[in-house]
Amino acid sequence: MRHKPAAAEASVTLQQPEVVILCPFTGIQQTFPCSNWLDEKKADGLIERQLYEMVSLRKKRLKKFPWSLWVWTTDLKKAGTNSPIFIQIYGQKGRTDEILLNPNNKWFKPGIIEKFRMTLMNTLTKDKYNFNCNRWLDANEDDNEIVREMTAEGPTVRRIMGMARYRVTVCTGELEGAGTDANVYLCLFGDVGDTGERLLYNCRNNTDLFEKGNADEFTIESVTMRKVRRVRIRHDGKGSGSGWFLERVLVREEGQPESDNVEFPCLRTQEDSEEPGELTAPRLPTRWLDKDKDDGQLVRELLPSDSNATLKNFRYHISLKTGDVPAASTDSRVYVKLYGDKSDTIKQVLLVSDNNLKDYFERGQVDEFTLETLNIGPVNRLVIGHDNMGMHASWFLGSVQIHVPRQGKQYIFPANRWLDKDKADGRLEVELYPSDVVDIQKLIHYEVEIWTGDVGGASTTARVYMQIYGEEGKTEVLFLSSRSKVFERASKDTFQVCVGKAVGCQQRVRQMSESGGIGSQPGEL
Ligand SMILES: *[C@@H]1O[C@H](CO)[C@@H](O)[C@H](O)[C@H]1NC(C)=O
Ligand SMILES: *[C@@H]1O[C@H](CO)[C@@H](O)[C@H](O)[C@H]1NC(C)=O
Repeated sequence: MRHKPAAAEASVTLQQPEVVILCPFTGIQQTFPCSNWLDEKKADGLIERQLYEMVSLRKKRLKKFPWSLWVWTTDLKKAGTNSPIFIQIYGQKGRTDEILLNPNNKWFKPGIIEKFRMTLMNTLTKDKYNFNCNRWLDANEDDNEIVREMTAEGPTVRRIMGMARYRVTVCTGELEGAGTDANVYLCLFGDVGDTGERLLYNCRNNTDLFEKGNADEFTIESVTMRKVRRVRIRHDGKGSGSGWFLERVLVREEGQPESDNVEFPCLRTQEDSEEPGELTAPRLPTRWLDKDKDDGQLVRELLPSDSNATLKNFRYHISLKTGDVPAASTDSRVYVKLYGDKSDTIKQVLLVSDNNLKDYFERGQVDEFTLETLNIGPVNRLVIGHDNMGMHASWFLGSVQIHVPRQGKQYIFPANRWLDKDKADGRLEVELYPSDVVDIQKLIHYEVEIWTGDVGGASTTARVYMQIYGEEGKTEVLFLSSRSKVFERASKDTFQVCVGKAVGCQQRVRQMSESGGIGSQPGEL
């Protein structure tokens, strides 16, 4: 290649001697194979070559436009910072990811302008947007907040959005061990926009947070979202006994009476189908955010208690294949974020796998995870990366597959590359696009409740499975497993099972456990 087009980034990929050029403005990625030496002493001795594009390899990528951002901090003493600073920008068509402004934690030097102020400019149209803050982002100053939202102002802004304050009450359940000392993060989603993820540390009425049976109040300030429709809450699993039994979250606008609270119970999601003949299970009680209990998830998305089936959560089953090359495995924390036509997911750190292998991300191994969130529409790209921590951080990612039973789709994302700061392009994070989208059978979810009787020896530790028979056929054999202790005497357990087809009205259930104990004989109900 003689010239590198302006604003394009070139990178040499791992497998093929070739040049790949991506132009972010047009979203076009072109590949120029080479497979030749550039060496005076080798082959034909040329040290300059003309390469031609292999048009069949041309790919469409997301178009990206450059913006310029200026940030001024005040000249008050100690107004600078060496903490990582993130920014996220919301527009009419969506929002950006969280963008780190100071890689390597470089200082933001106090400037000459007396206000915290930012200017954002679209470098193509030259449109400018101003954001005025004039407040601290400090856990020990002002209202102790470390996240601020600012509304855009400027000549091209037709309507300046108002600010709003939300009162959030987090209710921990009454069960033994219900409380947690882990860090809890919350994000509110409204009709217009969301609050971004906020660490809940600044409680209005308790010092010891998230204790059994407590209700902790927080205030969250943000650009108005109109009505709050969804709450995402998670914890980071830090500390011993970090498991948390969350009962519900209440949200109202600050200043409104308590009767205005919208209740978001922490319930099991029902991925029930819209097909007729389906079993509608009752709404279930609250659940754990605990890697050793229930489904092991540490994040839940909560919907108002009176919400519609159409608003319910979808499950995204993520399979990560680590490549089968030497030293492919990693000990780092891996995260993934999915982008769909309608929305995107949280940047989910993959802490608890579904297939529960002892070590994660080992050479040639497939690790499976589930992300439960709203319907983001057809998945069109994803970002995957790791935090580069641990004894062996370097990772060779083979491929990613995403199964979305409710969409009836499977997305395949080949990667075949290192995520290693010392290999190839040195990146720890990559953006992947699906090479294939495959139709899969739409799955139907049933919720199964099982009551173990109250007689001596009624419990079992065997693997229990069942088969459901309906007017239109029967399901395959379904195993009922959980991370919690199940099938204890005089207790009820709830399971979710996935089946490939509706069986019609349920008539008969065959159930048995694999070995030993009462119930080792199959029984029909
Ligand atoms: C904190 O506020 C909540 C909601 O108003 C209330 O239920 C709870 O009892 C309060 N806790 C304390 C310790 O005052
Ligand atoms: C439920 O869905 C219907 C139809 O999509 C909609 O008109 C209605 O407002 C929804 N109700 C709630 C509580 O969201």
